[in-house]
Amino acid sequence: MKDLISVRQLNKEKFFEIYEIFKYYKKRYLNGETKFSDLRGYSIVLPFFENSTRTRTSFELAGKILGADTINISASASSVKKGENLYDTIKTLEAMQFDFIVMRHYMSGASKIVADKVKSHVINAGDGANEHPTQALLDAFTILEKKGSLEGLKIAIIGDILHSRVARSDIFLFKMLGANITLCGPKTLLPRCLSSFDVDNITTDINEALMDKDVVIFLRIQLERQNKVFFSTLNEYSIKYGLNQERINLIRKDGIIMHPGPVNRGVEINSELVYGDRTVILEQVKNGLFTRMAVYRFLLNG
Ligand code: CP
Repeated sequence: MKDLISVRQLNKEKFFEIYEIFKYYKKRYLNGETKFSDLRGYSIVLPFFENSTRTRTSFELAGKILGADTINISASASSVKKGENLYDTIKTLEAMQFDFIVMRHYMSGASKIVADKVKSHVINAGDGANEHPTQALLDAFTILEKKGSLEGLKIAIIGDILHSRVARSDIFLFKMLGANITLCGPKTLLPRCLSSFDVDNITTDINEALMDKDVVIFLRIQLERQNKVFFSTLNEYSIKYGLNQERINLIRKDGIIMHPGPVNRGVEINSELVYGDRTVILEQVKNGLFTRMAVYRFLLNG
């Protein structure tokens, strides 16, 4: 594998190979070994055409920990602002001999287009509403740490499924690993093509979705992608689909609550519950670092 564009490139063998590398780095790093030389002499460029805190920072830090040189590019501070197109931007970066291009773009399919045109390894850090493969990997690794396996696990994904690249990558990966998936949200935020997703249950009733689940993933309402009205107000959405103390009781007692972040506090999850004892949101962020270290190493292994 030269690139990681979609979780659909992974079979179980490749997934567990990345998981082994993830565990190796996590264990050694948390034991105080904070510098490696696995990527010494390699260079990484991170062109981000959309905003990010977690993904960009962890990819950059992961590269630095492994010994690579890393350069960040924000579209808003680059020649994109002067009208340079994606193709010319990427060919320019390739000419500088970067080994890895870690890119985020607002257009679905953008990373695939780039990967087909350059020799560098390309990692999709989120392309429009299409996929976010490393988020799905870190979500799966976090679940594996908590539950031991995804086989037969009951997982609900709740919220703005329509605009969510995290939902798509999570669904493909979790189904491959044997999970039972329920999707839930307002009808307007459930895409019409859902029947092709091979999920086990689709509902607009959050109480039904939460009932007896091992894992519940709340998705951010992506206001920046919503060019029409999908629900009346954020307050109404929160009342109908937000997590509150009463709804937590519907989830299994040992069930965990996840969110890819950033959270709209008081919309998807009541503010006082965001870092509560049932959520693993910050563990997801921590695992994001080791996941991205593992993905670099995996792609170098070929
Ligand atoms: N989960 C995620 O992609 O967060 P960022 O947008 O902050 O990278």
